[in-house]
Amino acid sequence: MTANTTPGLQVMDHPLVAHKLTILRRKDTPSHVFRHTLHELSWLLAHPTFAALKTVEDNIETPLEMMTAATMRAPFPCLVSILRAGNGLIDGFSQVCPEASVGHLGLYRDHDTMTPVSYYTSLPSDIEKRQVILGDPMLATGGSAIRAVEKLREMGVTDMVFSCLVAAPEGVAALQSAHPDVPIITAALDRELNDKCYILPGLGDAGDRIYGTD
Ligand code: PRP
Ligand code: URA
Repeated sequence: MTANTTPGLQVMDHPLVAHKLTILRRKDTPSHVFRHTLHELSWLLAHPTFAALKTVEDNIETPLEMMTAATMRAPFPCLVSILRAGNGLIDGFSQVCPEASVGHLGLYRDHDTMTPVSYYTSLPSDIEKRQVILGDPMLATGGSAIRAVEKLREMGVTDMVFSCLVAAPEGVAALQSAHPDVPIITAALDRELNDKCYILPGLGDAGDRIYGTD
């Protein structure tokens, strides 16, 4: 379901993922269809994203006999959305893992400098004890993801993955260089950035397409 192209990077390889991504990439896909499809895609992306989730063995009783079975380890993970487009992914992740807490990091790219500006942080106080899944549909220059990982590290987080829909090679290289121990999981690895730091072929501005703004 995923191919390991380079160490620390998993790119999904699945026909249903490819089909749904194509819907997102089409420029005439309306916002409500974009949102709905992103939601479905996030359930599929959850599969590799949660693959390293820690579990413990519990003794349970089925209707027929006792058995030892895996159950999610407490404290439960924290899903962290890079606002605002990250919500499109994290909402779906939180449906498949409702026990997880949800944190928010408000970051936007300054349109002139293309560097991330932080405007909001809300995270559980014991986040350093949790596995963190950091989600944002787009990894372009990598500036937003790098800043988000730095913030989480400042709070003591050691165990995290970054999950996205579309990554640019430039963003993957930048994130891996800044934080080589953070695995990256993506539904697609695209060609390059354009001169405005948008991903080509990409899907445009994810936040605008989710929320119908521009
Ligand atoms: C987009 C996207 C990422 C960021 C990626 O957010 O959702 O957060 O750009 O670009 P980078 O890798 O070059 O940092 P944007 O800044 O447009 O904010 P938004 O989610 O509020 O639309
Ligand atoms: N942010 C987006 O939403 N899209 C891109 O292509 C690059 C950054």
